[in-house]
Amino acid sequence: MEKNYEKAYALTKKYGQEHLLSFYDELNDDVKAALLEQILNIDFELSCELYKNAGQASDISEGGKVEPIGYKDKALLGEDVLKVYAEKGNALMSDGRFAAVTMAGGQGTRLGHNGPKGTYDIGLPSHESLFAIQCRRLKTQSEKCGKTIPWYIMTSRENDAATKAFFEEHDYFGYDRDYIKFFVQSMLPMIDFDGKIVLESKGKIKEGADGHGGLFSAMIKNGIYDDMKAKGIKWIFVGGIDNVLLKLCDPAFLGFVDESGCGIGAKSLVKRDAREKVGVFCLMDGKPYVIEYTEVSDEMAEARDENGEFLYGDAHILCNMFNISAFEKMTGDFGGLPYHTAIKKTNFVNGDGEIVVPDKPNAYKFEAFIFDAFKYFDSMAILRVERSEEFAPVKNKDGEDSPATARELFMNAVDK
Ligand code: UD1
Repeated sequence: MEKNYEKAYALTKKYGQEHLLSFYDELNDDVKAALLEQILNIDFELSCELYKNAGQASDISEGGKVEPIGYKDKALLGEDVLKVYAEKGNALMSDGRFAAVTMAGGQGTRLGHNGPKGTYDIGLPSHESLFAIQCRRLKTQSEKCGKTIPWYIMTSRENDAATKAFFEEHDYFGYDRDYIKFFVQSMLPMIDFDGKIVLESKGKIKEGADGHGGLFSAMIKNGIYDDMKAKGIKWIFVGGIDNVLLKLCDPAFLGFVDESGCGIGAKSLVKRDAREKVGVFCLMDGKPYVIEYTEVSDEMAEARDENGEFLYGDAHILCNMFNISAFEKMTGDFGGLPYHTAIKKTNFVNGDGEIVVPDKPNAYKFEAFIFDAFKYFDSMAILRVERSEEFAPVKNKDGEDSPATARELFMNAVDK
């Protein structure tokens, strides 16, 4: 421990963060060890860089050329075409060329749920959790195509143990456990407006998951990418955990993307209204791009074409497909996806060792977004689908996008 303390002290001194060890002597041995481990795992260079850039404008306001992006409307494709895509997708799945990834690093905080979001029960008659619903779909499709689909689940340091325990407790929902792999995404510390890393208690640094854009580096770092390559996987579906109607192994979608010749694909659906809290697809300087709802201007959110349809109406629903070669682009000299800055309110320990509950935002949180990877591709295969069959998000405790709305949408959907 002595050695780790010296290393940690040198690091904090080098980066002007000595306050992190101010209360070290008051801590018990376990907390001391945990704090040192946190410090030794922090990328201080990156954190300083992020703080330096925190006040700067995001990509979108830097004036790239934004244009509408092309898509195919599933409803207009016709049964025959969809059948061909589904056959193609089924064949790829049967050959073991497909895997699904669920990004489940988030907690159910906004839902008032104490635990990993995937363990949440939205109150269906079956009382299936969000994880159980996704697993059931994988099981059904695996049976249809005669090959168990590998399932990779991204957790965070906050919820990894609880997630694994949940799967154990439910006997992996009857899935072959050899085909389920968990991997942990990285964390980044929160930084206050003076550039100091936030101590949430005397022995703990306030860290948060580095956003779902952390997926690529986490998959490479944890050997998931190598595992997929060794298995001969060609297409990787990547989706979130909070959409109860997410079709994470849809053969027609797989066939559609494979046939398109694009390295990436996504499902989209028409925005409910101009200000729905969803990112929208577009082209940015000719490359596929998603502008997040927090970054979209009113003018852009409301723009309509000559038929009265939203010009930027295709919502990104975290339902994406990547060719395995995408990961090659994300290694080597690739410096990682950019981080977006959010301003948050967080409790902190002051110089006197007291916990302060601020009444206004006081710190930066940094997150990478998966869709920032899209611009490394020339084109993207977008399939516009029916909202009522594919999107029932569970985000808030009450009101819009809540368990109540998701439950109703789920019950009314034809394909559950
Ligand atoms: C997200 C999308 C938005 C999209 C909407 C659709 C972002 C930034 N925006 O908004 O474009 O239209 O969903 O529902 O994602 N997650 C991790 N690790 C993280 C952060 C998130 O695994 O570090 C996972 C969550 O568990 C969840 C998903 O990513 O499955 C979505 O994250 P969330 O932060 O809830 O995104 P939204 O703001 O709702």
